[in-house]
Amino acid sequence: MRILVTGGAGFIGSHLIDRLMAANHEVICLDNFYTGHKRNILRWMGNPYFELVRHDITEPIRLEVDQIYHLACPASPVHYQYNPVKTVKTNVLGTLNMLGLAKRVKARFFLASTSEVYGDPEVHPQPEEYRGSVNPIGIRSCYDEGKRMAETLAFDYHRQNDVEIRVVRIFNTYGPRMLENDGRVVSNFIVQALSGQPLTVYGDGSQTRSFCYVSDLVEGFIRLMNSEHTGPINIGNPGEYTILQLAETIQKMVNPDVEVQYKPLPQDDPRRRQPDITKARQLLDWEPSIPLQAGLEKTIADFKARMEANGTLSENLLNYPSEKAVTAL
Ligand SMILES: NC(=O)c1ccc[n+]([C@@H]2O[C@H](COP(=O)([O-])OP(=O)(O)OC[C@H]3O[C@@H](n4cnc5c(N)ncnc54)[C@H](O)[C@@H]3O)[C@@H](O)[C@H]2O)c1
Repeated sequence: MRILVTGGAGFIGSHLIDRLMAANHEVICLDNFYTGHKRNILRWMGNPYFELVRHDITEPIRLEVDQIYHLACPASPVHYQYNPVKTVKTNVLGTLNMLGLAKRVKARFFLASTSEVYGDPEVHPQPEEYRGSVNPIGIRSCYDEGKRMAETLAFDYHRQNDVEIRVVRIFNTYGPRMLENDGRVVSNFIVQALSGQPLTVYGDGSQTRSFCYVSDLVEGFIRLMNSEHTGPINIGNPGEYTILQLAETIQKMVNPDVEVQYKPLPQDDPRRRQPDITKARQLLDWEPSIPLQAGLEKTIADFKARMEANGTLSENLLNYPSEKAVTAL
């Protein structure tokens, strides 16, 4: 099949492209390189079945494709809050353009939505039926409400124009190729630990998150895309950790000498986040398989390699993480 991946030069998109190329599909990667990078897709450059298009999805584009994985959107608060109006445009105009394309060429359309549609949830864990508790005027709203509108658009194109849609709600995902400066908790802790800085915990660290390794997520994407279910379907790892537990795990794995430093909680930071993945289990026969420790080893090894290449890693940390983690990459 010829498959379009918007946001394909980003963290998740590039791992998805690796899987699609390995399965002998023809892939078009469309990206404006706002948070994505060519190094993530470098291995496919020059491959006759791979095409890279530099394009901003807020502008329409004409392409002939069979499936569209629509991922383009900055995902971390640092990046989506940098230009919130642009984030809304990417989610609303960008999704409209991609749905218009899907309608025109009769392609199946997959939307990468988010657990942020549940806001600061009153229900725990969150099933797909939960409608969320989102602040419409807060600093995270450009992303949360933007994704909610993207879901609305997908379902309206489905009802009104018979576009085949698949909607996934992604919970916190981590792995190699995450941006070092994205301000997300896993990358923050790893970078801080590798460079000998204190690990910053916001609040008292009792807020919880779940962490899904990127290869598990991509497996869920492919199963949903090729299933008969529209979704929305939660994909994430239901293992729940407090932020403090995560800090201590990374501290142990990378550098037991670094301290934990506490700072005030930012606005609208959700207290708890854990997916209910009953639907993914029943409908897609999917569940995560990579334990946190194993996923962190691969992620730490990738960050360490990048930081060493940039010359930003202090000498005394060169023995972390273990040899095993580095060879597992
Ligand atoms: N990583 C997570 O934990 C997570 C959680 C929930 C949802 N998601 C969703 O998954 C998708 C991918 O996230 P990611 O973590 O890979 O983020 P990312 O920032 O690494 O990737 C996003 C990609 O989209 C591109 N992009 C942004 N705006 C664009 C535009 N206007 N036109 C064209 N390209 C544009 C960026 O350059 C980047 O390559 C996003 O839609 C995000 O909302 C991610």
